[in-house]
Amino acid sequence: MKQTLIKNISRLVTMNPASGRKGPLGVIERAALRIDDGLIAWVGSETECPKFDGEVLDAHTNIVMPGLVDCHTHLVHAGSRQGEFKLRSEGKSYQGIAAAGGGIMSTVRATRDASREKLLAEAGARIENMLSRGVTTVEIKTGYGLTLEDEMKMAEVIGELAKKYPADIRGTFLGAHVVPAEYRGNREEYIRIVMEEMLPAISGLVSACDVFVEEGAYTRDEAIAICTKAKEFGLAIHLHVDQFSDGGGGKLAAEVGALSASHLDYSDGVGMRAMADAGVVAVLLPGASFFTGGGRYPDARKMIGCGVTTAISTDYNPGTTPSLDPLMNASIAVTQMGMTCDEALLGITKNAALALGLSDRGTIEVGQRADLAMFDAPDEYYLLYRYGENCLAGVMIGGDHRGGGVL
Ligand code: NIG
Ligand code: FE
Repeated sequence: MKQTLIKNISRLVTMNPASGRKGPLGVIERAALRIDDGLIAWVGSETECPKFDGEVLDAHTNIVMPGLVDCHTHLVHAGSRQGEFKLRSEGKSYQGIAAAGGGIMSTVRATRDASREKLLAEAGARIENMLSRGVTTVEIKTGYGLTLEDEMKMAEVIGELAKKYPADIRGTFLGAHVVPAEYRGNREEYIRIVMEEMLPAISGLVSACDVFVEEGAYTRDEAIAICTKAKEFGLAIHLHVDQFSDGGGGKLAAEVGALSASHLDYSDGVGMRAMADAGVVAVLLPGASFFTGGGRYPDARKMIGCGVTTAISTDYNPGTTPSLDPLMNASIAVTQMGMTCDEALLGITKNAALALGLSDRGTIEVGQRADLAMFDAPDEYYLLYRYGENCLAGVMIGGDHRGGGVL
């Protein structure tokens, strides 16, 4: 058995407020933790640590948190869209640009044209970037292929990334991102292809299915049909809803038994209560709200008041938010969405794991995966306060440590 002890941790932020631990994040000061074969085996105060003579790592009084979970990304794509950003700065809208043939379709064209090798190399650099920020689990969506062949290509690249990098990478099929330009006059046929050709071919490569429900994308009824089919293939459901208008996304997510619903900028109390009752995790994407402009953000306070579990993710994509920084997103959630620092830190760890249906990570507890991020910071709040700065000192994934520090 491989056993490792990490000692000299100034603050172990367990994300579990059990008795004797400090605050809503369950902090243990001057802590140690032991890992047996990739799983956490002992957690506590260093003075109470049982005698141990295996590998010992010194955290040098850094703080240790669960590895960050980015539960919603579009990390595989070719091209970039700074030209559209410039147009938006001059008054054009995101949806106007999309209606004129740009937006998601411009990334679809670039991604269709790109080789697997190019997609793998560019997405690999983004994964490296995320690892360097303490991200240990990443969800990645397809959705820039929009033909059977190109969606397969994306799903296979996601599979290659999962093999190549130590982060735990989970794929989601987003064939219903937009209706591709060539099917604009015959959307029924494209939806038939999604349900009857793409889902059977791709379901074995991914663990979930997502649909973008919005004017200019898919309707509620189309989403219900696609999600019903996806569930027959054993896929979990995530949804993009209520990003630019109130489309009753919370209620829809509850009705289709979604694991998570993302964006929710325009969701109302009815939708929030439906999500709370059905146990749908809200994935809030502060960077997307920030970067598309207009000042609209999800009402996180109301959502939490309704009892909704709230996660935070980067939504990294080349259109609405080309940032790979979960902590920066958590800072925006605090300043613009009314979340407390504690809620925001839970949003990028424990609750983000729950948005992927994963309860074996996101907290530091006996029996959990040893996915850890170590930061050179006086406390966990400093990470949000110094927005945009990267304080990572080391990362451990499934008990293996690599790069950047002693972990
Ligand atoms: O999550 N809303 C839909 N999809 C992405 C944007 C994709 C793009 O603009 O390329 C999002 O914001
Ligand atoms: Fe998204």
